[in-house]
Amino acid sequence: MGKWREEHIGGQRLILGDCVEVMRSLADGSIDMIWTDPPYGHSNHDGDLNAQLNKHREIESKPIANDDADGMRRVVDGMLVEASRVLSPDCCCCCCCCGGGGGPRPTFAWVADRMDRQGLSFFHAVIWDKKNPGLGWRYRRQHEMVMISHRSGGKLLWANDEVAARNIFSMMPPRERDHPNEKPVAMVAHFLQLHSTQGQTVLDPFMGSGTTLVACQKLGRSGIGIELDPDHFETACRRVEEASRQPDMFMEPAPKPEQTDMFKGAK
Ligand SMILES: C[S@@+](CC[C@H](N)C(=O)[O-])C[C@H]1O[C@@H](n2cnc3c(N)ncnc32)[C@H](O)[C@@H]1O
Repeated sequence: MGKWREEHIGGQRLILGDCVEVMRSLADGSIDMIWTDPPYGHSNHDGDLNAQLNKHREIESKPIANDDADGMRRVVDGMLVEASRVLSPDCCCCCCCCGGGGGPRPTFAWVADRMDRQGLSFFHAVIWDKKNPGLGWRYRRQHEMVMISHRSGGKLLWANDEVAARNIFSMMPPRERDHPNEKPVAMVAHFLQLHSTQGQTVLDPFMGSGTTLVACQKLGRSGIGIELDPDHFETACRRVEEASRQPDMFMEPAPKPEQTDMFKGAK
């Protein structure tokens, strides 16, 4: 790869750089699954309420790169263009959308639309119920959404046809955080288990503190994580290193998909 700093830790590959540029160097059809959590587009860490809350949580409150509305749309759109090329025909692309239903310019609707326009087919929206309400004007936000798609013309990678999963799942956000937007490892594991199998390659273009690669390390997937911010990159390297030294320390068990024959063939 050469141009970017790259670390190989356990079975994982971590790259420091801009995800759109790095993805351009990945081979066509080389990725089985993308699981990612892009900047929210809310400029939430530049001195507003979230930044103040994070002070109490003792999280360093520096701005997230490309977290303004235009920056987020530019990098997510660029990522989706490359995603439709690097993904294999039968694949899955899961993209988190913070904001849980609010406007104006709701991100979840925009992401679903851009997926369809950039060579992917939007499949479903899954709701993450965080169990407790967060910030919000009038309606306090208690959920985030994960938009699920696959490559147009291919099919959704579903690891086990005998199982079905609910489209709402409940899980607390992590109590201790290394990154202001850190996701629970068990949440990422839930999607990895539904949409990939052991040994497959999973890409996270907006890796942050490396949660996706920690889950990959625990579940035997080959992860590729890309992060622009050198501090978050260092955090990701440390977390993956720790995970690789404790192969049996799995987080809370990933939610089990439901067994069901009754809904076979239903959309
Ligand atoms: C919402 S956070 C991801 C948090 C992650 N899910 C975790 O659990 O730690 C989004 C991340 O994308 C990174 N980012 C922003 N623009 C980027 C770009 N063009 N390429 C790669 N990473 C980028 C930010 O620095 C930030 O760490």
